[in-house]
Amino acid sequence: MARPLSLDRGRPLLAPSLLAADPLAMARSIDGLSGEADCLHVDVMDGRYVPNISYGPSLVRALRKRYPDEILDVHLMVEEPERHVDDFAEAGADYLTVHVEATSHLHRLLTCVRDLGCHPGVTLNPGTPIESVRPILHLVDLVLVMSVNPGFGGQSFLPEVLSKTRTLCQWRAADGLSFLVEMDGGLGLKNVAEAVSDGCDVLVAGSSVFGAADPLAALRQLRVAALGGVLHGRA
Ligand code: DX5
Ligand code: ZN
Repeated sequence: MARPLSLDRGRPLLAPSLLAADPLAMARSIDGLSGEADCLHVDVMDGRYVPNISYGPSLVRALRKRYPDEILDVHLMVEEPERHVDDFAEAGADYLTVHVEATSHLHRLLTCVRDLGCHPGVTLNPGTPIESVRPILHLVDLVLVMSVNPGFGGQSFLPEVLSKTRTLCQWRAADGLSFLVEMDGGLGLKNVAEAVSDGCDVLVAGSSVFGAADPLAALRQLRVAALGGVLHGRA
């Protein structure tokens, strides 16, 4: 059964993105985080939905085998994700997040992901209106707000997406729902506090962690900075 992410008194969760880790030294990169990450973010790209190609279920399976207790947050940037969710569930994903733009049958797909034993997540690109996910919010455990156009690490944060997280938090409260709000792309020391104060629960960070000289120190600094958003924004 998939493991849940849990918010401890509003403390934001950190999800380092393995896309920015050295693919030939991924285990060393993960071990170097010394358990400081709340989950591992796995970016799956098919070269069609996004221009880039990354990895498939075999990486998820290998991560699950080597790290049985880690929460694997799998972000599917693929066309027709309904063709692949079984494989990723079987490989050991905990959260399986699909793009609203990539499937014609989102409602059915999210139900299927839950039936497979994973936490369903939905995500949307910066150019996609937040209203596109409202009809299925009761079906998901996580909404991922893309803060860059998906496909590559190391891009600049798009601040205009912050209004989406504020809207999501309002809808969540109004409808009595409990999904987590995650943000992905261009996050670092400069902007995590703002993201948290605008409602983000889970922060994905690739290059600001694994691109740092000391990834563990960078992750700890991000946590401190993110906590600043709790103090100054929501509480
Ligand atoms: C982008 C991916 C991100 C990426 C983030 O398409 O979904 O998860 O790894 O990388 P940074 O943090 O470098 O923007
Ligand atoms: Zn991602």
